[in-house]
Amino acid sequence: METMTVRRMQFAFKPDMDPVFIKDDPDMSFMFLGAWMMLPYLEPFLIRTMRDALPQVRDEQLKEDLRRFCAQEGEHFKQHAMANDLIRALHPSYEALRTLEAELDRELKEFTRTKPLKFKLAYAEGFESMTSAVSRAQFEVGLYDRTDNPLADLGKWHVMEELEHRSVAFDVYEHIVGSWPYRFKQSLWSQRHYFGWVQRFKNVLVVPQAELIAAYQAPAIVAARKAYNRHYLRRALPRVLGTYMPWYNPAKVDLPEAFETARLHYSSTATTLA
Ligand SMILES: [Fe+2]
Ligand SMILES: [Fe+2]
Repeated sequence: METMTVRRMQFAFKPDMDPVFIKDDPDMSFMFLGAWMMLPYLEPFLIRTMRDALPQVRDEQLKEDLRRFCAQEGEHFKQHAMANDLIRALHPSYEALRTLEAELDRELKEFTRTKPLKFKLAYAEGFESMTSAVSRAQFEVGLYDRTDNPLADLGKWHVMEELEHRSVAFDVYEHIVGSWPYRFKQSLWSQRHYFGWVQRFKNVLVVPQAELIAAYQAPAIVAARKAYNRHYLRRALPRVLGTYMPWYNPAKVDLPEAFETARLHYSSTATTLA
């Protein structure tokens, strides 16, 4: 298992950032931005879940991993909150995002209060296994390397640290709960819950962007985008399916070389906190 470095980043966010930060792909860009609007609520939920689990963890290394997981997630949602403030300011209709944000925050805080630990740990693991599976594919196809948009830089740093801590939610789930059928069932539930919310945020984001989206519909751009997305999905889908298997273990997955390169890059540009 790689060491988990807690990095404090300084991204070159600007008020006039282009929301289309995935090359020539407004649809995927707005989907990511929708997902990222959730992170200042979702990642604190993961942190609360891990802290609820901590008293039941009897392994010193796992306790340390859990603390580092929380510290990395804490940096993630702070950076995303800064980017989200700039995204929300791009259009007056984006004020509607705040209503969704408040509803999501309420729902996840309710999960923390009312759901059993087993549910919350399986939710966290379902989210983490899915994000680490797609992160591997994203590194393989260089998804964030095709524009110099600071949002792409944010995305790349985030998925790199998601891979660094990919085993923690799984290990804590295995240590405390350990049931594969429940993990399988609950992963599907949590991923459906998550993507339902992503879609709601994305729907608000795309409303005022018809003109921008139309600028990417020339046949050559559409064909290149389809080919690239097929190339990405061919890598992402088998990795996501692999996470549902009873023998899945995030410590044993192959990692792309670009992940190691990104770790070194971000370690050299960050302030290291731990
Ligand atoms: Fe994260
Ligand atoms: Fe994570």
